[in-house]
Amino acid sequence: MSVPTGGHRVFAALYDRVLDPVERRVLGPRRAALVGGLTGRVLDVGAGTGANLPYYRDADEVIALEPDPAMRRRLHDRAGSCAVPLTVSGAGADALPATDGSVDAVVFTLVLCTVPDPARALGEAHRVLRPGGRLVAIEHVVGHGRPATWRRRLAPLWERMAAGCRLDRDTEAAVTAAGFVPGAVERFPATPSWGPIGAMVQLTATRA
Ligand SMILES: C[S@@+](CC[C@H](N)C(=O)[O-])C[C@H]1O[C@@H](n2cnc3c(N)ncnc32)[C@H](O)[C@@H]1O
Repeated sequence: MSVPTGGHRVFAALYDRVLDPVERRVLGPRRAALVGGLTGRVLDVGAGTGANLPYYRDADEVIALEPDPAMRRRLHDRAGSCAVPLTVSGAGADALPATDGSVDAVVFTLVLCTVPDPARALGEAHRVLRPGGRLVAIEHVVGHGRPATWRRRLAPLWERMAAGCRLDRDTEAAVTAAGFVPGAVERFPATPSWGPIGAMVQLTATRA
């Protein structure tokens, strides 16, 4: 789904409020563990309203990319919560604004569900990362069994309701297919495990 002129205003207005209980209970501590120790030059792709910003601690520089103007306004508002030098950009995942091998870490949180072409986004991450650079992600995925079957059925309707978010992505497989060397993987439920975003994965991978 392409970003409408003016952005997804309702989605942007509701995003932090709707996610707040899950942020406090599950996602916040995971974001801190995932991005807190990243060093060097970090790209946060689809940074949204800036939920990761308060957790960057050791990076030399964070470049937060957000193509949706309604989300990006909120990202700017939250810039002060970032303790390391921050640049905000409107670039998207399909053409990352960095030269080959110039980035130390790429962050995707709740983004590979939404980008129109995850294989291309991961290919771009692979291109811009230096050898040994890290890809880190927290994403909801299609999962397995009966919940996966109904997530696939619900995906087209959900995509229209949730600003392009797809329930049927298999992000672990996509990361491996993009040529990354898989690292730590944790699968966990953020909501009841049968829910639309019940199957989540936190992963790290390395660019060989
Ligand atoms: C569910 S939000 C996640 C925001 C944030 N990363 C977080 O963890 O809360 C998904 C974000 O992906 C952004 N997005 C959509 N298409 C994109 C694209 N092609 N490239 C980069 N970001 C995109 C949306 O604008 C939205 O801000």
